[in-house]
Amino acid sequence: MDSKQANNVKAPILVTGGAGFIGSNFVLEWIAAGKGPLVNLDKLTYAGNPENLISVADNPAYTFAHGDICDAEFVGKLLREHRPRAVVHFAAESHVDRSIHGPEAFLKTNIDGTFTLLKEARAYYDGLEGEEKVQFRFLHVSTDEVYGTLEPNDPAFHEDTPYAPNSPYAASKAASDHLVRAWVHTYGLPAMITNCSNNYGPHHFPEKLIPLMIANAQKGKPLPVYGDGQQVRDWLYVVDHCKAIMTVLEKGKPGETYNVGGGNQRTNLQVVNTLCALLDELVPDSPYKPHAQLIKYVADRPGHDRRYAIDARKIESELGWKAEESFETGLRKTVEWYLANKDWVEHVTSGAYQQWVDKNYGSREGVAGGAR
Ligand code: NAD
Ligand code: TYD
Repeated sequence: MDSKQANNVKAPILVTGGAGFIGSNFVLEWIAAGKGPLVNLDKLTYAGNPENLISVADNPAYTFAHGDICDAEFVGKLLREHRPRAVVHFAAESHVDRSIHGPEAFLKTNIDGTFTLLKEARAYYDGLEGEEKVQFRFLHVSTDEVYGTLEPNDPAFHEDTPYAPNSPYAASKAASDHLVRAWVHTYGLPAMITNCSNNYGPHHFPEKLIPLMIANAQKGKPLPVYGDGQQVRDWLYVVDHCKAIMTVLEKGKPGETYNVGGGNQRTNLQVVNTLCALLDELVPDSPYKPHAQLIKYVADRPGHDRRYAIDARKIESELGWKAEESFETGLRKTVEWYLANKDWVEHVTSGAYQQWVDKNYGSREGVAGGAR
């Protein structure tokens, strides 16, 4: 590293959505690895939780900026003030079921918000010079759901798989990916996109499959499996995803897309049964043992994608990243984290969370009164 590069490492990175599930894991990993200063821009929606970041709140390398990525003035000012060497864009509305009940917020944050961020990042980038300009990167964190759904024997999604989003969430993320692509090709913004499979791990909001099942099982509530439970997802431990993002930030080529996945295809029913077996083992005195007796089949999600699977050979061979955690070890760590952090679950599931549970599960057959 020459002295100019070393100097620029002192420049912060700007993370959006760093108080959410993946963003907070990324912030903690980044600070723990001593990778330099980090500014976290987050609106703190229901999914953003400052409690996730208590351990770094007073760290001089960490700065929190409460704001909305749709607010151009705020974003522009933040960029000019902090002069980041990179933007890592996590902020999004992220839950498919919520996008079915209320797509507006998804279009607003995921499309308008990404547009605003790109617009402001471009203005900032255009004003950079020399080494600062050469080194600047914009990393857009996206999902495999933009590719649509796979049949059982289809090959896994690769970077050239045509986009075919099926849910309002997936459509809004696909739109944001297209905007990023256009900003690369039209304006020369040095941006990269990662499309990752389903994550799991600490800080996962209990509206998503794995944390919802862990939370419900501990309280003896029904475990609502949509449809026949044979839908397949390709699971990746969140810390592995964070390491992939750091790798792309350091070694990825502007204009490129990288698929990220752990090669862990499981049906939803397999996931729920594995969680139940882990809880049987880790909470031997639970009155709800065997926890699998709590499984309840409920009405399917409209437009439910049958199967996702990621072909991660590009990031593995070109950038040298590989998932380190197996599904079994990652899931065990995850259950242990939730058992050790019951207060965290209590805090995020109070108040408005109950209204969501009523809305999403109240009308589904098989779970009288919802999953409460
Ligand atoms: P999350 O819902 O847990 O967190 C989203 C964060 O963004 C929250 O902190 C929220 O407060 C913030 N936010 C929302 N709207 C905002 C706005 N307008 N301005 C500023 N901040 C705002 O999401 P997540 O699961 O951590 O996902 C992060 C990113 O990774 C998303 O872009 C998502 O599409 C992508 N992704 C998620 C997964 C997954 O399995 N969770 C997989 C692949 C990709
Ligand atoms: P989810 O965690 O919402 O992630 P995504 O829809 O982005 O893949 O759901 C994962 C899978 O679990 C998906 O196939 C839907 C299913 N699911 C259930 O069967 N029951 C539930 O209560 C939830 C939340 C999800």
